[in-house]
Amino acid sequence: MTQELTSPSPAPQAPGTGRGPGWWRDAVIYQVYVRSFADSDGDGIGDLRGARERLPYLKDLGVDAVWLTPFYASPQADGGYDVADYRAVDPLFGTLQDADDLIRTAHDLGLRVIVDIVPNHTSDRHPWFQDPELSRQRYLFRPGKGESGELPPNDWESVFGGPAWTRTDRGDWYLHLFAPEQPDLNWDNPEVHTEFEAIMRFWLDLGVDGFRVDVAHGMIKAPGLPDIGHGAQAQLIGAQVLPFFDQDGVHAIHRAWRRLLDGYGDAHGRQVIGVAEAWAPTAERLALYVRPDELHQAFNFQFLNAPWQSDALRSVIDASLAATASVGAPTTWVLSNHDVVRHTTRLGGSLARARAAILLMLALPGSAYLYQGEELGLPEVTDLPDEVRQDPAFFRGGRATGAAGPGTDTESAPDGVAAAGGQDGFRDGCRVPLPWSGELPPYGFGPGGSWLPQPADWGGLTVAAQTGDAASTLELYRAALDLRRRLPGLGDGPMTWAPAPDGVLAFTRPGLLCTVNTLGHDVELPAPGTPLLSSAPVTVDDATGRLPGDSCTWWAI
Ligand code: GLC
Repeated sequence: MTQELTSPSPAPQAPGTGRGPGWWRDAVIYQVYVRSFADSDGDGIGDLRGARERLPYLKDLGVDAVWLTPFYASPQADGGYDVADYRAVDPLFGTLQDADDLIRTAHDLGLRVIVDIVPNHTSDRHPWFQDPELSRQRYLFRPGKGESGELPPNDWESVFGGPAWTRTDRGDWYLHLFAPEQPDLNWDNPEVHTEFEAIMRFWLDLGVDGFRVDVAHGMIKAPGLPDIGHGAQAQLIGAQVLPFFDQDGVHAIHRAWRRLLDGYGDAHGRQVIGVAEAWAPTAERLALYVRPDELHQAFNFQFLNAPWQSDALRSVIDASLAATASVGAPTTWVLSNHDVVRHTTRLGGSLARARAAILLMLALPGSAYLYQGEELGLPEVTDLPDEVRQDPAFFRGGRATGAAGPGTDTESAPDGVAAAGGQDGFRDGCRVPLPWSGELPPYGFGPGGSWLPQPADWGGLTVAAQTGDAASTLELYRAALDLRRRLPGLGDGPMTWAPAPDGVLAFTRPGLLCTVNTLGHDVELPAPGTPLLSSAPVTVDDATGRLPGDSCTWWAI
């Protein structure tokens, strides 16, 4: 299945090479969910050419890097997170040449490129799983329980719902923490390690600047695959160490990958990184993934899950900064991704809060991840008909994502958080294709339709409609990212809390003071300086600043 490049491409030199202060420490990284970003060929599915054509938009937006979700050969049982060939591009998304072109164009524009790697499981169509002998060694097959082996080997549940085991025609069972089409690999087998290191080298040779490691907390299972022993497993994911998630053994794998990434980077004068999608129960356990000899970054889902309350936000921020500082890693921040309800909707359906939240996030020290469409203030689409649904969790009655931590499902969500406002907690509503221009679907997404229907009222939310409108969310993102670049030290410098009234957060960063009013009404305070940028009109009268409800302001000090 592996495609040949028509013209093999040497790895492009990205700006800022070698060791030294890492580019990732304060980078703003934009997540491109490829199938929903831009479609070049009219089949209604976004593709690599479409993404490449839109790279100047991302450059102009002001981000530093792009993370592309999986575009590899896949039956698409889980949006491409079921990979059948890690070295081939799925024809839905283009060719290897298109990937090469995209990476080159990004580098020419000064953008770095991160790609997904999916090591916990493959597709059931992967040649290893298809081969009866190989599959027994490289996946997790076990005999069943019960008189004739008719019961699953243990009580583990699939994150997407139902048992985590499927019985084969031969009578034994294989483990799949996600869909049955995603069998878990056996990481006790050295050949699995060798293969993933080779896959990484393959993409590094093509010029990528790093990997987002899918389910980075999942590869190692507790010896003997013990029962968990009680129900409601979905509530435990991310809340405690489980026999299949956040086992200490995963760290040896990350240490080996760090050696590979550093060795490759040193040999080629590049800085290449790994970012963990790891759901750990505490900020301290998450920090273990970014110790100096492990991955460079880990997504901070505790921030994503925080309710819109000043005390809760402050304690998540403090815990995140303290935990990463203890290992010398940068903190990351994220509000939305392809697995969770878009934050405009999650934060109570309030665009005002979403705008405030992003100014808060971009004022914090560390690296920030943006999810495509949040810069347009897109809400979650909450009225998708069942017949267009594609999320495997929807069909299996499980959770929105495997990875999702506590608080991302309806039952356990704190007030105003997580699934609140979403259709039903599943993931198609945040994956609706982007509106670029025009008054009607597909809003310039491509020359055909769009694989999920776009709302009829998105004409005012398109990139074209918002460009040049100073009051738009798109221009707010552009202004914030521009200031972030121009204020030295804003990304990776110090942060100090300042006194503030109840319900308000205030902190200083190099060159600015940031205030966040999490209350639903105006608050007055002594103006700390001159407003530089605000998510809502702020007024200053006789040295008194009036912060609108649910707003964030950056003040020049
Ligand atoms: C990660 C991905 C999610 C996928 C799951 C299984 O959580 O973000 O989309 O379904 O892993 O690969």
